Amino acid sequence: MRAQVLVALLPALGAQGIRIIQSNDDGWAELYARSFFNALTAAGHDVVLSAPAENKSGASSLDVEPSARTSPCEYDSCPANSGPIGRNETSPRLNWVNSFPVTAMRYGIDTIAPPFWNGAAPELAVSGPNVGSNLFLAVQFSGTVGAAVHAAKSAKIPALAFSGASEGNLAWNTTPEPQRSTVYAQLATTLTNAVIASGKPYLPEDVFLNVNFPEVTGSCTDAAQFKWVLSRINIGTFSEADVEWCGDDRLPTEQSVADAGGCYVSISVGDANDKTTAPAEKQAVVLRKLQSMLTCLP
Ligand SMILES: *[C@@H]1O[C@H](CO)[C@@H](O)[C@H](O)[C@H]1NC(C)=O
Ligand SMILES: *[C@@H]1O[C@H](CO)[C@@H](O)[C@H](O)[C@H]1NC(C)=O
Repeated sequence: MRAQVLVALLPALGAQGIRIIQSNDDGWAELYARSFFNALTAAGHDVVLSAPAENKSGASSLDVEPSARTSPCEYDSCPANSGPIGRNETSPRLNWVNSFPVTAMRYGIDTIAPPFWNGAAPELAVSGPNVGSNLFLAVQFSGTVGAAVHAAKSAKIPALAFSGASEGNLAWNTTPEPQRSTVYAQLATTLTNAVIASGKPYLPEDVFLNVNFPEVTGSCTDAAQFKWVLSRINIGTFSEADVEWCGDDRLPTEQSVADAGGCYVSISVGDANDKTTAPAEKQAVVLRKLQSMLTCLP
C-alpha cells in the first residue's frame, strides 16, 4: 500500500525516468527479463538490456571476452554465426553478449548503453528477475548476483538483483504472458521505483540489494498482496549486530523469510565485496530509504 503511494508520488516529486542498465543470467530472451524491461520502460525509465546470449546460470562472477557464436541464441532468438555481440534490430535496446552475466553487464555499462544516452553512464543497474531463488549460499554462485555485484563494486553503479521462486523457462515471445512473469515484473518495478524515489545516492557505496520473490501461487498471485521484509543473506550467529528493526538487532535470514509462508519478499542489503550481508550502518541507510514499505515478520 505505502509502496504504491510512493510510486504514485513520483511525478509529484518531480522524479524523472532514469537511465537503467539491465542484465540477467538466464539469457537475453528469457521472458522474466523481458517483462521487467517492459514494465520499467512503461514506468518512464530509459532501459538498455545487455544479457548473455544463452542461459549462463550459476556463472557467479566469471568474466571472459565474448566469442563469436556458431549456433543460434537461446530459443532461436538470434541466427547462427551472428558474431560475439548482437541486438534486436527493431528494438535495439535489447542486446545480447556471447559470454557470462558479468561480461554482459560490463559490456552494457561500458560499450552498449552509453550511445543511447549521449555517452552518459547508467544511473542504476538491475539484474533478473532470475528464474529460481537466490538465497544464502546460492548467492555466491548466482550469475544474477554476479552481474549486480560487478555494477556495484567495479562500476560504482547502485545495483539491485531480483530472483523469483517460481521456475520454468519461458521464451520471450510466450503468449499469453504467464502471470508469474508479469507479477515479478511489477514487484521488481515497484522496488526499483521506491529506491529511485528515495533520492541519490540510491544506495551506499559497494552495496547491492538481493531481492527474492516467493512463488506466484495460491493467495500470492496479485502484486498488491506481497509484503516486503528487510533480511540478511547469511546466518548471523557470529556476525556483528544488524540494524535495529522490528524490535531486534538481528534481521531474519532470507531463507527464513522464504520459509515463513505468506507473500513475503526478502530484501537483503548485500556487501559487494564478498556477497554477504552489509554492515549495520549500510543496512540503516537502506532501512531509512525503504522503511515506509517494509513489514515485520509475524
Ligand atoms: C525483436 O523486437 C521485435 C519488435 O519489438 C519483436 O517483435 C521480436 O519478437 C523481438 N525478437 C527478439 C528475439 O527479441
Ligand atoms: C539455466 O540453467 C540452469 C542450470 O543448468 C537451470 O537450472 C535453469 O533452470 C536454466 N534456466 C532456464 C530459464 O531454463
